[in-house]
Amino acid sequence: MLVNGLDLGTTLSLPEWQASLREMVDAELARALPPADTRPALVHEAMRYACLNGGKRLRAIFALEFCNLLGGEAQAALIPALALEAFHASTLVHDDLPCMDDDDTRRGMPSTHIKFGEANALLAGNGLLTLALQWMAESPVPPPHVQGVLASELGRAGGSEGVIGGQIEDLAAEGTVPTEDQLIYIHTEKTARLISCACRIGAICAGASPDDVDRAGTFGLHLGLAFQILDDILDATQSSEALGKPAGSDEGNDKLTAVACWGLEESQSRAKQHTDKAIEVLESLQADTERMQELANQLLTRTF
Ligand code: IPE
Ligand code: IPE
Ligand code: MG
Ligand code: MG
Ligand code: MG
Repeated sequence: MLVNGLDLGTTLSLPEWQASLREMVDAELARALPPADTRPALVHEAMRYACLNGGKRLRAIFALEFCNLLGGEAQAALIPALALEAFHASTLVHDDLPCMDDDDTRRGMPSTHIKFGEANALLAGNGLLTLALQWMAESPVPPPHVQGVLASELGRAGGSEGVIGGQIEDLAAEGTVPTEDQLIYIHTEKTARLISCACRIGAICAGASPDDVDRAGTFGLHLGLAFQILDDILDATQSSEALGKPAGSDEGNDKLTAVACWGLEESQSRAKQHTDKAIEVLESLQADTERMQELANQLLTRTF
């Protein structure tokens, strides 16, 4: 896969491949975000801080690799990939606010509201999410009229029937008796929906058939469910240093998590089941999905 002249062929090991993609995405985000000295400097500084502070860049990687494996030029998915990361960063800024999870660190640094204050963090989050939609609408994807489809995909995945829906039920469920239905709704909407959206967007940028776009999306839903189950497990089992965000935050907030609902062992086995289903979907694509399978399996054993 060639992006920005960078050959990310599969001869690289998975960690090398991820590191090259992360580096490239970080550099492109730094270039594309409004400069920190552009007026109003404060919001641009906060947006850059929230977006350029590391992160696994998984949503960008899913978009780029789905575009690549479905026969597109990964370059076509580059701006949409940046938009997905900007949008994701906006959800993290808001998620950490005192009125939400009240977490003081993120990606190993003070959360955006700790560094810039709550009102500025709120506005920086809004700035990132609107910028993400703008980037989708302006992205130089080859097939005509696709930009509108990309913006619509992100709007749906990120809106009240997507991430915001998951987040509002996540807050409402604090301190309640766990119900599996509600937990699955929360996991699906707050996390899996955006990961699924990233995979669909990659497929759309490749000019894939509607069936293949849906297959990419189904992969992303299962992978995203496994991902959030793991996030809940890690919150309960890892240190804050390892996570770069406060460990035990879920228990402190009395969250409805996989661990609270199913316990550690069943949670781990459900994450494995979703990963297996995600890999089955990959196998139904007429494409070389080896790298994506490797990544899906690696995410199941991640420690941060
Ligand atoms: C954190 O997502 C929020 C969840 C959806 C669990 P990531 O674990 O992908 O966060 P970064 O981008 O790598 O920091
Ligand atoms: C976050 O879920 C999902 C979104 C930010 C949309 P969490 O609240 O579990 O994510 P972390 O653990 O703070 O990263
Ligand atoms: Mg949360
Ligand atoms: Mg949180
Ligand atoms: Mg969490």
